[in-house]
Amino acid sequence: MRDAAPKTIYLSDYTPYPWTVDSVDLHFTLDPHATRVRSLIRFAPNPAFTGETPNTMFLHGEQIKLISAQIEGTAINPDLTGEGLTCAVPGGPFTWESEVEIDPANNTALEGLYMSNGMYCTQCEAEGFRKITFYPDRPDVMSVFTVTVEGPHPVLLSNGNPVVTENHLAKWHDPWPKPAYLFALVAGDLVAHSDSFTTMSGRHVDLNLYVRPGDEGKCAFGMQALKASMKWDEDVYGREYDLDLFNIVAVDDFNMGAMENKGLNIFNSSAVLASPETSTDLNFERIEAIIAHEYFHNWTGNRITCRDWFQLCLKEGLTVYRDSQFTSDMRSAPVKRISDVIDLRGRQFAEDQGPLAHPVRPESFQEINNFYTATVYEKGAEVIGMLKTLVGDEAYYKALDLYFTRHDGDAATIEDWLKVFEESTGRDLAQFKRWYSQAGTPRLSVEHSFELDTLTLTFTQHTPPSAATPDPQPQVIPIAVGLIYPDGTEALETRVLEMTKATQSFRFTGLEDEPVPSILRGFSAPVVLTHDLSDADRAHLLAHDTDPFNRWEQGRMLARKSLLAMITEGADPDPAYLAGIHKVATDTTLDPATRALMLDMPSEAELATVLHEAGTAPDPAAIYAAREAMAEARADAFADVAADIYAANTVTEAYQPNADQAGRRVLGNAMLAMITRRDDGAQAAAQYDGADNMNQQLVALALLVGAGKGDEKLQAFEKQWQDDRLVMDKWFGLQVSKAKPEDAAATARRLTEHPAFTHTNPNRFRAVFGALVMHHAGFHHASGDAYTLLADWLITLDPLNPQTTARMCSAFQTWKRYDSDQQAKMLAEITRILATPNLSRDTTEMLTRIKG
Ligand code: PHE
Ligand code: ZN
Repeated sequence: MRDAAPKTIYLSDYTPYPWTVDSVDLHFTLDPHATRVRSLIRFAPNPAFTGETPNTMFLHGEQIKLISAQIEGTAINPDLTGEGLTCAVPGGPFTWESEVEIDPANNTALEGLYMSNGMYCTQCEAEGFRKITFYPDRPDVMSVFTVTVEGPHPVLLSNGNPVVTENHLAKWHDPWPKPAYLFALVAGDLVAHSDSFTTMSGRHVDLNLYVRPGDEGKCAFGMQALKASMKWDEDVYGREYDLDLFNIVAVDDFNMGAMENKGLNIFNSSAVLASPETSTDLNFERIEAIIAHEYFHNWTGNRITCRDWFQLCLKEGLTVYRDSQFTSDMRSAPVKRISDVIDLRGRQFAEDQGPLAHPVRPESFQEINNFYTATVYEKGAEVIGMLKTLVGDEAYYKALDLYFTRHDGDAATIEDWLKVFEESTGRDLAQFKRWYSQAGTPRLSVEHSFELDTLTLTFTQHTPPSAATPDPQPQVIPIAVGLIYPDGTEALETRVLEMTKATQSFRFTGLEDEPVPSILRGFSAPVVLTHDLSDADRAHLLAHDTDPFNRWEQGRMLARKSLLAMITEGADPDPAYLAGIHKVATDTTLDPATRALMLDMPSEAELATVLHEAGTAPDPAAIYAAREAMAEARADAFADVAADIYAANTVTEAYQPNADQAGRRVLGNAMLAMITRRDDGAQAAAQYDGADNMNQQLVALALLVGAGKGDEKLQAFEKQWQDDRLVMDKWFGLQVSKAKPEDAAATARRLTEHPAFTHTNPNRFRAVFGALVMHHAGFHHASGDAYTLLADWLITLDPLNPQTTARMCSAFQTWKRYDSDQQAKMLAEITRILATPNLSRDTTEMLTRIKG
């Protein structure tokens, strides 16, 4: 029942739904293969609908069996298609009743109502509710839901507050009108980790984290993170929680990280379950951030939702921005900013520079699931950050207050969002809006000149045209700058320049000496900056810049430059760079996390992007070899201090997942990586054997595997952790990511034959194939084996889980960068997948766009 030619949906075609839905009553009788869903829905003509109310109504519905339907109590026979139904309706308000049957046990797409390890759960964003019952499944149709769940399970949950709880039956009422994508239901044999929170106005809120029996010991951290998030949103945004109950459920089979269903967040277990024995420092940080993210959606997403899916960034960009603020407050703000920029450059820039480039607010799509992208989320968050930089903190929070007051209960648009800022600040944001409508990463170049006492900075911006935006116009770019004198003192504290033209100069007068300009402090705009600074000036900023981001950035630029010279000219590692990082890494006035970040090398993918931008086809093997050579040179350069720094940063207190301890571990482990290159893995083996937490155990194992000395420990690790799915995901992933490039595909293939491999669990599938596609030199190995292996498995997974298949297709998005041999190999696989009969709409759209 698939469309021959997939439909494209356009933002410009938006029209309101002709009816409002005043209430929804749902009744679920659970059964693995034959769940019955009865609905009673009250429709009324929508006063906001222009034109006459139609006399037929369309309701979405997919993969559901209609048992019966009534309008105003009279049985009807609607016209059914694979996408929904149409039926005649009366002129005024009316009641719709229906009964449908669904098959959750066979729902491998993990969208709608499905089963995971014997429990029932739902995923309705974006368009999954239509797999549960017939409904106008669009976010601008908001209603009050009452839900009854019947089933032989001790725990029966839905949104809102419980009204009736009996043996095998529970009734829930959610007083807040919501779109169907925020509906949720969970049933199963679950145990709760419970706590409570008192809101700023004194409301008592019960908090529960529901998990499978056996996972009780992995709940405490998530619960703490939830309470911290609730408090933070009150303190910083004045936002209070609005129900008596807040539930989180952990499920093992989930396509994404987590979902903000009203009062009943559903989480991928990897995004909520944590314990020192089973989780790394990065796992803890990610879990804290995702819990915050989903909780913050209660206001930015749920109380104020999106009018249509083109407005996705309205909730996602803002909520990512809010969770990054939260993490900065909970941990180290500079470390968070630097990690976010590494991530943005790694994922979003690649997307924006390739065939999948799209604006933060796209204007068309075929499958909305394909637009939960780094551009919508991460660039969307950068846009919020720029807005805040431009208007200032006070005006930002004033505008947010207005946004919450004015749009509470609305399904809103980016226009609504910007209008709030325009009204509260008096600014015209017409040009700023291009950040939402134009695809592509602006290139910003700067030249500086100094005369007498005046420094002139001349900026030029240019955005490469793309299919999505053939004729990009100049954008508003907030450029935070500072000036540093030759003696290391500050000539100018951070000032934000507002660039609006294609070329623009800014002058700084009254200077005592020629300063070194520190440009784009804090990465104040998501652009590619070119600044012709000498190595000496970069070294000066590395030593003296008062902006932590730019200090790091200069070290990064030196590393990049040296690596590029190694790759393209066969140069040796730059001794000045090695001396520079030696200095920062041994500077005990800096915190360990910062020192470790300074040591971090640009990734292979980042180097490939830079080469591609410079007009060179990246050679993955040469990039890999250069990073290896640099790592060897660093091991030599640090031979004098590595053992001491390792020892000095050994955490002897009980494991805590906080930023301080994590910082010490990451610096110590950077030293361990160097030591392992010189001691045959002795120290890493000792760390492995002595580890009382997963972070130290896993890092040691990864280093041993990378050194070709990991076989015995890999077996021991498997034996120790075979019953823990999340830990086993790490075991699968690290063998691929630590394989030599020529072995990566074979390793992945071997792992797919392991009895614990299953492609229907997205976490396990991603553990192997996510690691493979992120292994740059392994994935792009000249043999092309990894392309073929991935394509085989995408073809296998597509009929079962189109959403996860389509997301993984982005591995091919950079295909045009590489030499003609590699291009041909990738294109052959893209074409082979596209030729698969009945390929999903999701995968078809992704690969068609990628193919270009
Ligand atoms: N809305 C979820 C989030 O950002 C992401 C998500 C999208 C989850 C689609 C599932 C399906 O937090
Ligand atoms: Zn989100």
